[in-house]
Formats: sequence, C-alpha cells, structure tokens
Amino acid sequence: MKTLSIRPAKIYDVPALARIERESFAHPWSAEQITRDIVANDRAFVAVAVLDGEPVGYADMWIVAGEAQLYNIAVAPEYRGAGIGSILMKYMAKTAARAGCRTMTLEVRRSNEPAISMYRKGGFRDSGIRKGYYADNKEDAVLMDREISPDEAIEGTGDLEVDIETV
Ligand SMILES: CC(C)(COP(=O)(O)OP(=O)(O)OC[C@H]1O[C@@H](n2cnc3c(N)ncnc32)[C@H](O)[C@@H]1OP(=O)(O)O)[C@@H](O)C(=O)NCCC(=O)NCCS
Repeated sequence: MKTLSIRPAKIYDVPALARIERESFAHPWSAEQITRDIVANDRAFVAVAVLDGEPVGYADMWIVAGEAQLYNIAVAPEYRGAGIGSILMKYMAKTAARAGCRTMTLEVRRSNEPAISMYRKGGFRDSGIRKGYYADNKEDAVLMDREISPDEAIEGTGDLEVDIETV
C-alpha cells in the first residue's frame, strides 16, 4: 500500500506534467500551456497526484461564471487502473464545490472508452454530442455534465491523501 497525495500543481511540476501529457495524447499540451494554467490564468486550477515524490497524474479545470469545465485528466501509463484518475476527478469536484460551482462539464472523444467509463462512474451523464468536433480526425465529442453538491466542499480538508494499491 502506498499513499497518494493530491495537491495544487506548482511550477516545478511542469516537466513531469508535460511528460505525462506526451505519454497520454496524440496532441499533447506543451509545457508552456501547462505553465500558463498554473501561474498566469486566474480561471484555471491544476492539480497533481504524487506518489513516492513523483507526479503520476494531473488534472486541469477552468472555472468561468460559476461553472467548472474539466479540461484534462491524465495518468502516467504505468499507473493507470489503480484509481488515480477517479481520485483526481473527485478532488476537482471538491475544489469546484469550494469555489461555489454547482455544475461541472467536460467534453471527451467518443472513442475514449476508459475516460467515458470513468466519468460515468464519477456521476457524469451524457448531455450531448458535438459532431466532428476534433480537428485532427473529425471525431465527435461527447459532452458530459454533473451537478456539484455544496456538501462536496466539506468532504476532507485541504490537500488529499489516499492509500492506494499500485499495479
Ligand atoms: C482516463 C484515465 C485518466 C483513467 O485513469 P485511471 O487512473 O486509469 O482510472 P481509474 O483507475 O480511476 O479507473 C476508473 C474507471 O475508469 C474506467 N477505466 C479505466 N481504465 C479503463 C480501460 N482501460 N478500459 C475501460 N475502462 C477503463 C473504469 O470504469 C474504471 O473503473 P473500475 O476500476 O471500477 O473498472 C487514463 O486512462 C488516462 O490517463 N488516459 C489517457 C488520457 C485521457 O484520455 N484522459 C481523458 C481526457 S478527456
């Protein structure tokens, strides 16, 4: 059993987060884009999951006009399937609740079954389809949303520590 910590991302996490991006997406965000969301974008909130001192996953969310948009969750390939994505998702919901949000939305590629399954288990429901949304292969985006309960704001305190079984 190991303890996973979830905390707000810092500038020194950027190289590791950019590596997780490259390992996770055909069109990864650059280190500059991640840096901007950590240090220069008041609307953005970036969280990192840390195991044995190493970032193993991260999530990026924007809060605009009281609505949280979950832009990204990625877990390093060797750490997938251990619950880290789900824990990050829950932490982002708690953060959104603390910011006073009542809904969280996201869009995901229709072919991304692991992510869609994770979001459904996390309480998201399908709210629409954006036809041909992704420019690279004209893939549809599935739109999903979920309500955020004010009670989620008071589950746990501050940063999060969770014991997980790693694979
Ligand atoms: C999507 C992703 C973040 C999931 O992270 P993870 O830590 O492996 O997810 P969890 O271990 O918390 O799994 C939660 C649920 O997701 C679903 N899931 C995870 N991996 C899956 C897979 N390979 N196939 C199908 N469903 C899967 C399952 O429903 C799982 O629940 P279960 O364990 O009860 O079966 C991870 O696969 C990833 O980083 N993918 C690449 C980046 C990406 O596509 N991000 C989403 C962008 S919108």
